[in-house]
Amino acid sequence: MSKDTTFSSKFGLIAATVGSAVGLGNVWRFPSLAQENGGGAFLLVYIGCIFLLGIPVMLAEFSLGRAGRSDSVGSFKNLTPNKKWWIAGCFGLLASYLILAFYMVVAGWTIEYLWQSVSGGLYSGIGAIGSGESTFFNDKMKELILNGTSPIFWTYVMIIINLAILLKGVKKGIEKISNILMPLLFVILLVFCGVSLSLPNAQEGVKFFLTPDFDKIDSNVIVAALGQAFFSLSLGMGILVTYSSYFPKSTKMVRTSITVTILDFSVSVLMGLIIFPAVISFGINGSENVAGMTLVFVTLPEIFAQMAGTQWWSALFFLLLGVAALTSTISIAEVSIAFVHDRFKVSRKKACYIVLLPMFLFSALCSVSLSGTGWLQVAGMPLFDALDKFTSNMILPMSAFLICIYVGWVLPKNFLKNELTNQGTFRSIATPAVLFLIKYVCPVLIAMIFLGNFIKI
Ligand code: PHE
Repeated sequence: MSKDTTFSSKFGLIAATVGSAVGLGNVWRFPSLAQENGGGAFLLVYIGCIFLLGIPVMLAEFSLGRAGRSDSVGSFKNLTPNKKWWIAGCFGLLASYLILAFYMVVAGWTIEYLWQSVSGGLYSGIGAIGSGESTFFNDKMKELILNGTSPIFWTYVMIIINLAILLKGVKKGIEKISNILMPLLFVILLVFCGVSLSLPNAQEGVKFFLTPDFDKIDSNVIVAALGQAFFSLSLGMGILVTYSSYFPKSTKMVRTSITVTILDFSVSVLMGLIIFPAVISFGINGSENVAGMTLVFVTLPEIFAQMAGTQWWSALFFLLLGVAALTSTISIAEVSIAFVHDRFKVSRKKACYIVLLPMFLFSALCSVSLSGTGWLQVAGMPLFDALDKFTSNMILPMSAFLICIYVGWVLPKNFLKNELTNQGTFRSIATPAVLFLIKYVCPVLIAMIFLGNFIKI
């Protein structure tokens, strides 16, 4: 089934796509990865990865979605009706549904922390212990997001917010909310950047984040940078295929992909410029304090606790994080919604319920698996982590690999050229390079990520 829904403006189209790309990967994954893996040197490797892998794979997905004009499975069916290539689309679809289950839980934590900042609960009792006491926020984290029923409650709130937006459809739901939230996200980021860079010793933090250390660059670092480019740009999840099926025929896709990539990259770098000056300025030591969940739920609250206007800075930060998470969950839910709507010919509203109602159970199971009770362990780890590893390390690379082979080798030779030049209506000097990268370079790089992850497991 083909559709005629399109985004109504260029701005909205970019806001929605950037909204998907900008997420927790930019906030807590990128800064700690960069700092651990050679600072400025990692940045250079990462820039190389987004040009060699990120932009070409994004363009392969865009071309597939806009020409196929259907969901992530149906687009293959529309372009090659008599072949079994639609099976390749099932990988992205499966990954997106599994990711949705645990990402919704993390999204729930962000709004729980937003509420706890506004209500003051996050900081109540700190006076008795004394600021800078690192176990205080560690204990809070355990209490608020790992144990009890409150994380499940907040995950449910997030599912309901997603449902409310997605029920309104592509233009009035996804596009409209992205138009509001993405500019808001950039404004909050710039405010934080200003504050952080004007702290005493801010340059030390910038140095700590960006000083290039080329000795650290080895194959592991390259695999890490490739994996980050993948995750951060939402590749291989069916999201870009689904969103591009809503692109008008006139969209200049090379330009769009570069804009999306640059904006996503800027958010990652800005996050580093916010976090490291603050961490150094407030005398927090140890790289374990700037990694993953600890950074966001322990280290940053410790910093806010020492600032004037604690609750308000804290609330503003978790609002930023909540916005980033919300626009990502919307995009990942849309993959399955578009699939159910197109394949089973049910109304969009029904499709939203079919996709999101089971999340009340699946996400709760993911949340419970982290509670430390030993329930729901898979392959020796909590269900939550198992889903994360299984999708990021196995299914996503497989899905993107197959898309490159399909667009580069299976579809007619002129397919990509026609798509990138909007059927020859303008010239694009990038076309031969993009085709070369999709055919030869991306499959090899993706195989490298795959093997790299495999060896690590
Ligand atoms: N690109 C997102 C990020 O950087 C990853 C993501 C998007 C994950 C959508 C799930 C859904 O965090």
